[in-house]
Amino acid sequence: MKNLVVLTGAGMSAESGIQTFRDADGLWEGYDVMEVASPQGWYKNRELVLDFYNQRRKQLFAVKPNKAHLLLAQLQGKFHIDIITQNVDDLHERSGSKNVLHLHGELLKVRSTTNENLIYSWTGDLKTGDKCETGSQLRPHIVWFGEAVPMLDKAIELTKKADILVVIGTSMQVYPAASLIHYIKDNIPIYFIDPKPSINQNNFSNITIYAEKASDGVEKLVQNLNNELMC
Ligand code: APR
Repeated sequence: MKNLVVLTGAGMSAESGIQTFRDADGLWEGYDVMEVASPQGWYKNRELVLDFYNQRRKQLFAVKPNKAHLLLAQLQGKFHIDIITQNVDDLHERSGSKNVLHLHGELLKVRSTTNENLIYSWTGDLKTGDKCETGSQLRPHIVWFGEAVPMLDKAIELTKKADILVVIGTSMQVYPAASLIHYIKDNIPIYFIDPKPSINQNNFSNITIYAEKASDGVEKLVQNLNNELMC
């Protein structure tokens, strides 16, 4: 089976009712990103940060995977699929996708503020006073701006093995995630799905752009891949 690597961003979950970050009604319209998604913000106003992620964690229980998530999961029978997501929601996993790498962390996990390897599953509100097994305050298991991206090497390794790359619902503005597209083997097919595609197709020899919402774009992708499998 061919290796299909899928890089997803907030647009992948938009049709499930989760706001993106930089669209007109995006999350960063309502919040100062450095106040809620940076180590400085955590030290300046921990309650604001805890509340921000508690609200997002609560919202996760009110949404479900959309058609695009489900279609990708169904493709697992025909391709070896690795999903590299910038999203901190669990919608890929809930749709049945087996190989999901979270580059920017996970809302349903928290970790120790003194030992980043002490990571715990968490579904309720995280509060001041919630401590790890060594007695340190717990924080959201999210990669904040200015922090290292621990899963980057693994993501690069997967991307280098791709026979097909699919990019869905990302503005390609945040690095190092946006740099992954440059690690692919020469001339492999790239499918880029976004209603407002922010990529210069002249930079890539074999790219197909679907300027569509994820649900419609992935449907077209599946048709295209099925046709290729028939040939
Ligand atoms: N289907 C597909 N794409 C969509 C849809 C949709 N229904 N709706 C919006 N989009 C696209 C937008 O056109 C935009 O290009 O999704 C993209 C969302 O971009 P951002 O909001 O910038 O989200 P993302 O690229 O995932 O952000 C990267 O930035 O804020 C940090 O850590 C956070 O992981 C996040 C990272």
